[in-house]
Amino acid sequence: VRGWREPGLHIHPAASSNFCAAEFVLGEGAVLSIAAGAVTERRPGALRIVLGDGAEVTVAERAWLRTEIERVQIIVGPGAKVHIGPDSLLNGCYLSAKKSITVGVHGFIGMGTRVFDADQHDFDTEHAERIDPVEIGDHAWVASDVTVLRGAQIGAHSVVGARSLVTGKIPSHTLAYGVPARLKGPVGDRSKVHH
Ligand SMILES: CC(C)(COP(=O)(O)OP(=O)(O)OC[C@H]1O[C@@H](n2cnc3c(N)ncnc32)[C@H](O)[C@@H]1OP(=O)(O)O)[C@@H](O)C(=O)NCCC(=O)NCCS
Repeated sequence: VRGWREPGLHIHPAASSNFCAAEFVLGEGAVLSIAAGAVTERRPGALRIVLGDGAEVTVAERAWLRTEIERVQIIVGPGAKVHIGPDSLLNGCYLSAKKSITVGVHGFIGMGTRVFDADQHDFDTEHAERIDPVEIGDHAWVASDVTVLRGAQIGAHSVVGARSLVTGKIPSHTLAYGVPARLKGPVGDRSKVHH
């Protein structure tokens, strides 16, 4: 476990000082950048970001990694990337990247939601583990207790209902929910909605 002044850890002076209470683990050559205006709560260890060798995590301007009720954990394998867009809200959720997870501008992820870009295990001896990037679009809202699997693409301004399972592509401006999540209707402009 490395400290506040480690090489590879770039916390903008205008990011919340509460990030000093987070737990960051950086492998060799890993880079974690937290931009101006990004915030979290001051709860020791409630925010945990683990980067394997050569991994990259960027937390953009004004992103809120909200740990008030549940922890936020971002686990990034060697060489993998996670990007959290500006004005986004990660509320008590878990992201696990072996290749890439992107959360767009002003994307919301609710409590208990888990996002995986890899199956985490080989399927059988002839079929290796599958890994495909996950994209959560600008102004999208993934509600609570959702599981997002490898290769999922959630379009801009789309909404995923609580307890859903996302396995594929959800177009932009679409409400989807259920296990597996099915397209249920249109969603308008979400760019001005508040946290
Ligand atoms: C996605 C959501 C916004 C949809 O709301 P809505 O469009 O108003 O949907 P309604 O409540 O009118 O329900 C419409 C139908 O869909 C069903 N439904 C709604 N959300 C569902 C979900 N997540 N999973 C399965 N079915 C769902 C309802 O049972 C209802 O079925 P019926 O027509 O057979 O009675 C809402 O259900 C939801 O999931 N909110 C998330 C709340 C949350 O997790 N907040 C925490 C902070 S992120």
